[in-house]
Amino acid sequence: MNYDTKLRKAGNKTARTEAPLQYQPGFANHFVSEAVAGALPVGRNSPQRPPHGLYAELISGTSFTTARADNRRTWTYRIQPSVVHRPYARIDNGLIRSAPFNEVDATPTQLRWSPIPIPKMPTDFIEGMVTLGGNGDVATQLGMAVHMYAANRSMTDRYFYNADGEMLIVPQQGRGRFVTELGVIEANPGEIVVIPRGLRFRAELPDGPSRGYICENYGAMLRLPELGPLGSNGLANPRDFLAPVAAYEDNRSPSALVAKFQGNLWAAEMDHSPLNVVAWHGNFAPYKYDLARFMVIGTVSFDHPDPSIYSVLTAPSDLPGSANIDFVIFAPRWLVGEDTFRPPWYHRNVMTEFMGLLHGVYDAKAEGFLPGGASLHNCMTAHGPDAETWARASRAELKPHKIEDTMAFMFESRFAMRLTRYAIESSELQHDYFEGWQGLERQFSER
Ligand SMILES: [Fe+2]
Repeated sequence: MNYDTKLRKAGNKTARTEAPLQYQPGFANHFVSEAVAGALPVGRNSPQRPPHGLYAELISGTSFTTARADNRRTWTYRIQPSVVHRPYARIDNGLIRSAPFNEVDATPTQLRWSPIPIPKMPTDFIEGMVTLGGNGDVATQLGMAVHMYAANRSMTDRYFYNADGEMLIVPQQGRGRFVTELGVIEANPGEIVVIPRGLRFRAELPDGPSRGYICENYGAMLRLPELGPLGSNGLANPRDFLAPVAAYEDNRSPSALVAKFQGNLWAAEMDHSPLNVVAWHGNFAPYKYDLARFMVIGTVSFDHPDPSIYSVLTAPSDLPGSANIDFVIFAPRWLVGEDTFRPPWYHRNVMTEFMGLLHGVYDAKAEGFLPGGASLHNCMTAHGPDAETWARASRAELKPHKIEDTMAFMFESRFAMRLTRYAIESSELQHDYFEGWQGLERQFSER
């Protein structure tokens, strides 16, 4: 039975085989969803006999005693409890690595990579993950990792969960369809998906060859940034975040449940799908967001604000104002600054910047930064526009100009990023990246 059939069975009159997926709007709302009418208990979470004979199971995304504003948990009502599986056994990690990253020396050099190729051999989402680097430590739940995925095959009888962190997935080529315990989310390039720590899912790739970026957040969960003087609206608006509706698989098929736990992959055999939740309620759920919905704010006089004004999501660290992760986008926008060098200034930052490009051209780099590629400017490493961009922007007529048809993003972290051996030895590493700045001539004249 496919999901749309189940939606019809659940009384959803509008669902058809090709109907768009249903979602629930809002960021970290206390959602309520049932795929079968009456499956949610009323007035209590764990009745002696839940409706339809289901088992009640709680998934806690934060500690029990986390303050109410940050507390995240979801109650599930399922065909069998999640504990019904054989013991885990280690499997090959492939090219997935985890913090602490000690394979190679951390480098202050500016680095850039061309897009990693999509494999010709059948490769699913997990097999196609390669780690570029990260920081912190999975054991102490601090820091993050950056992965790419390049894959061409849907997961069918394999399921995955990540106990090390939540996963912010940024498709760059091909749709990603994430069939999770709490329902189905589909994301086109230009949309993002966040899968919470520990949530079980299967990734389908309906378009075949697919590529994207993943930020694995070992720390506190991503949330909306504070708006400060902006007021009560702007940037990413809460109602544009979409959580799935309940959908379940009721089968007796052999399957493998793959876990990422303390940096290693493990697999356990099961005789049924782990995606067997018929109803759920709570605020610990996967979600998607269309980056085109982001309300971009910038100068209407001169200079331009710090790029923190472009933050979609942030994950705090223990140092107030210094994020474990900021997810920042460079979206289409008007540039109107008067007497202003409009691309980013030259800079050296304490925060480390990993950048990716979904499509188009990034306004600080005339060439070489390719869609699907990536760059890293580590803690206090100097960078800025290349010589060609500087020359053009310094002489440009400053009439209103719209940057269109582009979407770049940044995973920014207060912790320096250490790379994997794969990232350093990859044939995609552009060894000539530094040359883009060498044409910046001396510009001082005393008179
Ligand atoms: Fe930068």
